[in-house]
Amino acid sequence: MSAEGSITPAAESFTLSDQEFEAIAQFAHKHFGLALAASKKPLVSSRLARKLRQRNFTSFKEYLACLDGPSSEQERSGLLSLLTTNVTHFFREPHHFETLRNDVLPPLIEQARRGGRVRLWSAGCSNGQEPYSIAMTVLDLCPDAAKLDFKILGTDIDPVVVRHAKAAKYPEDELAQIDAKYRKLVPARDAEGRLPDSLRKLITFGVLNLIEPFPFRGRFDAIFCRNVAIYFDNPTQQKVWQAFQNALNPGGYLFIGHSERMSGPAAQHLKTAGITTYVNSPAGRTS
Ligand SMILES: C[S@@+](CC[C@H](N)C(=O)[O-])C[C@H]1O[C@@H](n2cnc3c(N)ncnc32)[C@H](O)[C@@H]1O
Repeated sequence: MSAEGSITPAAESFTLSDQEFEAIAQFAHKHFGLALAASKKPLVSSRLARKLRQRNFTSFKEYLACLDGPSSEQERSGLLSLLTTNVTHFFREPHHFETLRNDVLPPLIEQARRGGRVRLWSAGCSNGQEPYSIAMTVLDLCPDAAKLDFKILGTDIDPVVVRHAKAAKYPEDELAQIDAKYRKLVPARDAEGRLPDSLRKLITFGVLNLIEPFPFRGRFDAIFCRNVAIYFDNPTQQKVWQAFQNALNPGGYLFIGHSERMSGPAAQHLKTAGITTYVNSPAGRTS
């Protein structure tokens, strides 16, 4: 640290060498599945330089060593946030929630009422608006969902956003944008300013890296993985699509982001059922 404050003279003039960019790109690919094109170097360089100054690192080398160090969780999470975006909002890409409401949920609710098991997954859920939007759709159609075997899972690789999602606190102006038919499910927040218990108890949150093998025994009836795979290279995307297909029940739905496309072997079984919407139709079955 310099005598004047927290910025070292060296830190004022960080420039990322090609080798250092390559090291960051390899790290991001290995640990997060991210594909960082060379054209991203100026952006990565300026964002990283800011991070290094904030965290009082004196060189990229020192920062890279810390990413592999024993207390690396915070640094890794910070790097991921810097290379991707957590942008999300309630009922983003609303046509998916219409399909959820009209086509996906009615038979699943019947199934749950007959004592069956229903599982929905928001994979790459960021700060939680996506799984809470799913929960609002469920609760509007099935107010007793929490008493049934009906569960929603919300996961993200970044522990910081998962903590936000669990905390379930959102600013009033964000909540105000929710359509009235769902807004009525958030009549008031609890004493700590959280979304109501009725929504929170439908969802379990956890940290999960989608490029690693999934730890689940049971399958899902619907998976939302939107605006996440866009950061992956094509082989990684194809592996993730395949892993989702394996994780879906026959007839289960996969929703992906508006600029993402299904590709690779999973496309044989994940049949288009709307805009960026796919139904799992394993060979020999019709959904
Ligand atoms: C733009 S947000 C998408 C949020 C929400 N699904 C939506 O569409 O509004 C992308 C999220 O993907 C997460 N992410 C990136 N790489 C991931 C990975 N390998 N495994 C799990 N989540 C990942 C990021 O942490 C971030 O929260």
